[in-house]
Amino acid sequence: MKKTETIIMTISGGPRKDGASARMLQCFTESLLRVSAGRASGELSFVFRHYDAYDGGFAPCTDCRACRHFEGCVHRDMDGFWRDFENADGIVIAAPIYNLSFPAPLKTIIDRMQRYYNARFFLGKKPPIKKFRPVAFLTAAGDPQEDGAMAACQLRRIFTVTHCELVCHAMMAGTDATEDKAGADAAVQGCIPTFLSALKSDITK
Ligand SMILES: Cc1cc2nc3c(=O)[nH]c(=O)nc-3n(C[C@H](O)[C@H](O)[C@H](O)COP(=O)(O)O)c2cc1C
Repeated sequence: MKKTETIIMTISGGPRKDGASARMLQCFTESLLRVSAGRASGELSFVFRHYDAYDGGFAPCTDCRACRHFEGCVHRDMDGFWRDFENADGIVIAAPIYNLSFPAPLKTIIDRMQRYYNARFFLGKKPPIKKFRPVAFLTAAGDPQEDGAMAACQLRRIFTVTHCELVCHAMMAGTDATEDKAGADAAVQGCIPTFLSALKSDITK
């Protein structure tokens, strides 16, 4: 069956709207749009659902454990987010590295995924989300030696219960030494083909 719309959920994890990670996300989505424009009409068309972790103001997980007894979360502030998270065809997360990890508002979103962990292990939902979604992870870091591996490792762990897979990780390191605006585009390009092919193969998972 021919698919008309590919829904991409994008999540900004940094506070700086013109920071390196925000630029990486912009370059990534613009590249997807260029690919789509180069295809026959309707063959590949992207729709983006964007979330900003800092603007979202989501409440942290309080480990109340209610999600061990029912599917969902007692905090309703992320209902729309979860709907998009479950229905997306692919997910792009862009974030700076803070202390080897994520900025706190993005970590809050990741911790709130505990509802899926509990659905899997306490409610026996296997998998708790039916649809497989590939994830591209785009990170910027001040230290030229930083590889973002710890943050990627944290994501991979929670993705085992959310039916996601981190298929590519773009890194822009050494941002404290340069304001090189062109670097963001170069940093994400390697990720584009991998993400696109993971999007195409998702029906087999
Ligand atoms: C609170 C804080 C913690 C940081 N920790 C790290 C770190 O552990 N490793 C690193 O390489 N850079 C670190 N940085 C630098 C940022 O990763 C870097 O400035 C990055 O470009 C910020 O992303 P942005 O340009 O998207 O805002 C830190 C910056 C802040 C504000």
